[in-house]
Amino acid sequence: MATLSLKQVEKTYANGFKAIHGVDIEIADGEFAVLVGPSGCGKSTLLRMIAGLETITGGEISIDGRVVNNVAPADRDIAMVFQNYALYPHMSNYANMAYGLKNRGYSKDEIDRRVREAAGILQLSELLERKPRQLSGGQRQRVAMGRAIVREPKVFLFDEPLSNLDAKLRVDMRLEIKNLQKRLGTTSVYVTHDQVEAMTLADRLIVMNGGIAEQVGTPIELYEKPATRFVAGFIGSPSMNFIDGTVSDDCSHVVLNDGTKLDLDHNVAANRPVVVGIRPEHLSLNTPSNSKITARVRIIEALGAETLVYLNFGDKNEAITIRMQGTHQFETGAELVLYSNPQQIHLFDRESGHRI
Ligand SMILES: Nc1ncnc2c1ncn2[C@@H]1O[C@H](COP(=O)(O)OP(=O)(O)O)[C@@H](O)[C@H]1O
Ligand SMILES: [Mg+2]
Repeated sequence: MATLSLKQVEKTYANGFKAIHGVDIEIADGEFAVLVGPSGCGKSTLLRMIAGLETITGGEISIDGRVVNNVAPADRDIAMVFQNYALYPHMSNYANMAYGLKNRGYSKDEIDRRVREAAGILQLSELLERKPRQLSGGQRQRVAMGRAIVREPKVFLFDEPLSNLDAKLRVDMRLEIKNLQKRLGTTSVYVTHDQVEAMTLADRLIVMNGGIAEQVGTPIELYEKPATRFVAGFIGSPSMNFIDGTVSDDCSHVVLNDGTKLDLDHNVAANRPVVVGIRPEHLSLNTPSNSKITARVRIIEALGAETLVYLNFGDKNEAITIRMQGTHQFETGAELVLYSNPQQIHLFDRESGHRI
């Protein structure tokens, strides 16, 4: 068990490319932290720096209070689970799980105790004598996790461990990983580009964008109060609607391009150009308010439990999406009136993208 601390961590690769621009993160003992962001934003780079697989070119990383910048990966007391779980095909699952311990010179008895204990936790006890190819994808992923667990590390690092699995299995494994982490109480950092996976797994989320940690918080904090337009668009599915507008003279509402007025409940300067953010689930057809957008139906996606309706409004055919519970039918081109609630309107600065 351990804390993990990153202070102004930077990474400039040998070719001069700066992938990480001064990241500060404090991860508490036993916490499950998730690094999430689009491909190329520096998630793997940061995780590999924590693991010791990449040098740290600026700042400091500490595990349990000890600065590890110059500590070899094997001496950091971490275990990493990758996307391609890289099991040895010619070895039994038992041998795969035991391998790292054998290399570290543990006794046969100690190795046996740890492998059987991990196998019990992961429900692999019956499968230890088989080879990896005789297992399903999910079972193989569990062996890969077993290999990490037997090390009894201070910190688990996961780099997109579920990306190679099909959608249904990914959901099952997501729950397993969450349960396992809670049960073992091991401080964990998990990397994913999948915001749903991130939201469901994380005690705390770190949203990365272009080598910067844009916001750190609980999943619900980030959903309810995204600090930037980027975070607002990344967290939540379908994505938040973004519409340009200008704050009215008396600051009581925002005026959209087509003249639509939406009531505001914000402390914001008059005539300021803003981006209005409204989540698809916060637009309603049947809770009338002063704030209404009249839009035309473009496409409907009926998912059974919910219906997504993609619409356009105004002369510029601006796009807007709503998410409704249950099943609904609308003709293409039909006009709908979408009501919004001032408490569920987010405002962002047009230039900086920062929350207002
Ligand atoms: N060895 C390297 N040399 C130079 N640039 C690299 C190297 N590895 C990764 N990068 C670049 O650093 C950025 C971040 O990469 P990475 O951490 O793998 O992103 P992510 O895991 O979020 O997809 C990318 O632009 C990538 O091209
Ligand atoms: Mg990556």
